[in-house]
Amino acid sequence: MNAKSKPSPVVQNLEKFWMPFTSNQRFKAEPKILAAAKGMYYISDRGQKILDCTSGLWCCNAGHGRETITEAVKLQLNHMDFGPTFQVGHPIAFRLAERLCEITPAGFDHVFFTNSGSESADTALKIALAYHRARGDSDRIRLIGREKGYHGTNFGGMSVGGIPGNREAFGNLLPDVDHLRHTLDIERNAFSRGLPEHGAELADDLERLCQLHDPATIAAVIVEPIACSGGVVFPAKGYLKRLREICDRHGILLIFDEVITGFGRVGKAFAAERFGVIPDIITSAKGLTNGAIPMGAVFVKDSIYEAFMQGPGPGIELFHGYTYSGHPVAAAAALASLDIYQQENLFERTIELESYFEDAVHSLQGLPNIIDIRNYGLVAGIELCSRENKPGARVYDIFTRCFHEEGLLIRASLDIIALSPPLIIEKSQIDQMFETLGRVIKETA
Ligand SMILES: Cc1ncc(COP(=O)(O)O)c(C=O)c1O
Repeated sequence: MNAKSKPSPVVQNLEKFWMPFTSNQRFKAEPKILAAAKGMYYISDRGQKILDCTSGLWCCNAGHGRETITEAVKLQLNHMDFGPTFQVGHPIAFRLAERLCEITPAGFDHVFFTNSGSESADTALKIALAYHRARGDSDRIRLIGREKGYHGTNFGGMSVGGIPGNREAFGNLLPDVDHLRHTLDIERNAFSRGLPEHGAELADDLERLCQLHDPATIAAVIVEPIACSGGVVFPAKGYLKRLREICDRHGILLIFDEVITGFGRVGKAFAAERFGVIPDIITSAKGLTNGAIPMGAVFVKDSIYEAFMQGPGPGIELFHGYTYSGHPVAAAAALASLDIYQQENLFERTIELESYFEDAVHSLQGLPNIIDIRNYGLVAGIELCSRENKPGARVYDIFTRCFHEEGLLIRASLDIIALSPPLIIEKSQIDQMFETLGRVIKETA
């Protein structure tokens, strides 16, 4: 064990696990261990109850330890642990596909299964490229992402992603990629409640890229309806509609990466519906199984699926897939999650709680160092100014104190506190969350 490592009461050796997106040295010197979970709470390794203000990592929309998911997983494991979906199939994957297509926007009647958000993003990009080629439009090879965008960590998603730190160590990105300007504009939109007023015209940046590259070479534009990992950045009113119009004008596919916004985070099954802007491809993961088993899904418009089914057959239409695409145990977890979402009306609950949550987060306006508060659905971002030459340090201190001393799990993302509680949260827990956070922000220099 590294001399700096401090064991936790429940983990004797912290050294062997190379942790993702984590300062391993800092973590191992000062571990934060989640030992158990139920409902809205984690229990730390020291037995402390911790209110989950982040749905784990934007996943557990129905809260933790849901017994019907556990039962469904157990049953499926006993019934059939694994079955491939290459050249053979199993019932539960088809059942899940059918069930999902009941909650997708109209005209999205086909789903491709993956195991994560990163795989969903790469699958969507590959489908977009192959779609144009299947239609004889093979000049469309270019992919457009957006600054501050996050589409996971595989080569495709990383290349269209727009968070510099996620790219800089990995030289070899995909060629023929460009990025739209991001939509964060604190100067004009600080402390917006709901979608910001200013910035719809930023969508016109796509016209600039069309001019630069020739629109007939662009296959797809991929954006998150809300850029969560890149700092909780909301689209201005009208922005997504304008992006849709420009894509239509030039025959470019529009992909919404809904890995976070899918499954009720903003009050509908997908943000596309809440925003009234329908893309051509939607990616998802996380809330699909309530975080219980890894799984992702990519939904495509019928016209895209049909374009692949035009050939004479019987060749494989899309040379793409994963050993675990449609994994039966993950499918069982997904079906049980969808049941909970529906039976407990959790998507509608987001809308019911939205204004209470909004008032609560904006009650922190005026506290020291806060330069912006933004929110929509059950997502909020609180941005603080950086300590001199130490970006992220203040928010990290707030995160640490919340975890160890106050029983609150928040997400620290540089100088932004990102909040996305399970959709089962009670108003009293919203109060607890913001009273505690407000006090900690006030007391953290
Ligand atoms: C929008 C978006 N796309 C893709 C991903 C990657 O998902 P995963 O970590 O499951 O690969 C994430 C993860 O946070 C995400 O927020």
